[in-house]
Amino acid sequence: MRGPGMTRILLAGGICAVLTAGVAVAETAQEKRTKTMKALGGHMGAIAKVAKGEAGYSPAIVDHAKGIETISHAMIGLFPAGSADAKSRSKPEIWSDWTGFEKAANDFKAAAPALVTAAMSGDRGQIGAALGAVGKTCGGCHKPFRKPKE
Ligand code: HEC
Repeated sequence: MRGPGMTRILLAGGICAVLTAGVAVAETAQEKRTKTMKALGGHMGAIAKVAKGEAGYSPAIVDHAKGIETISHAMIGLFPAGSADAKSRSKPEIWSDWTGFEKAANDFKAAAPALVTAAMSGDRGQIGAALGAVGKTCGGCHKPFRKPKE
């Protein structure tokens, strides 16, 4: 399998890889942040349904909890300086009070693992408590650092 045919296949693969990387780079920090925050909302909503008894327990909520935990580690990286576009709800205080912002992100990171444990337990009370604790840290950051919806 060496020859012009193989070379062409390898070349095509290389070009695809370059194109894919180009698409990833084209996503702005603002778009990535919005998408990630929306995903957080989706994960929280799915777990809330179980906590409220609107949905039966399913191990799928463990994945939602793990998704939240993973994002909690990436949170601070979603806010590079100068990344707020005109429609952004990020307040300038994020960057003028970076220490305070980092603390809010760390509070979120600290609360997330207990939600994974609770989700694995399958105990609705425990899930509700851990969900409430994580939700408090969402609000703990949104209140000082997110502009109200227009
Ligand atoms: C460390 C700060 C911080 C934490 C923690 C945080 N957020 Fe956010 N969130 C923000 C900021 C700032 C924005 C506005 C981003 C922008 O528009 O630039 C935002 C925006 C959002 C949005 C609106 C996205 C849109 O449609 O524009 C949702 C939904 C959201 N967050 C959900 C959550 C949930 C759920 C949690 C907790 C599980 C959470 N966030 C934790 C700072 C945070």
